[in-house]
Amino acid sequence: MMLRPLLPAPVLVSAILLSGASLGSPITTLKSPRVEIPASDLVFPSGPGSEQINGNCLTCHSADHVLNQPSLSKEAWEEVVAKMIRAYKAPVNADDAEKIVEYLATTKGRP
Ligand code: HEC
Repeated sequence: MMLRPLLPAPVLVSAILLSGASLGSPITTLKSPRVEIPASDLVFPSGPGSEQINGNCLTCHSADHVLNQPSLSKEAWEEVVAKMIRAYKAPVNADDAEKIVEYLATTKGRP
């Protein structure tokens, strides 16, 4: 009885050559797309309290998520900051929270 080879020889040869070729190109040659993001969307523009807001409010969302909200009264901003702390467990100390509310009331405030 004759044993038939599983694959014809030329297929095997090219399979070996192809696997050799892919081993020869290391994964580090993959390129990431360069994405330019305007800096203003990443952090809060500087001003009194910007250090506190940038230090406390960018862990979970971007600055533009906050800056694209409608302008609010100081009381409403107090509510938002309190909600971040209460509902979403943002670790913000009382001192920073006060400065953050001031910052928001100044840059996104409404009388
Ligand atoms: C622990 C995570 C976390 C931190 C830190 C955090 N937030 Fe949020 N924030 C959220 C989540 C979750 C939402 C709701 C996300 C959504 O609706 O897409 C949100 C939504 C918001 C919104 C949209 C309006 C709303 O009420 O949903 C504002 C404004 C906002 N955050 C402001 C702030 C400010 C100011 C700070 C800093 C004091 C802050 N956040 C820090 C989690 C956080």
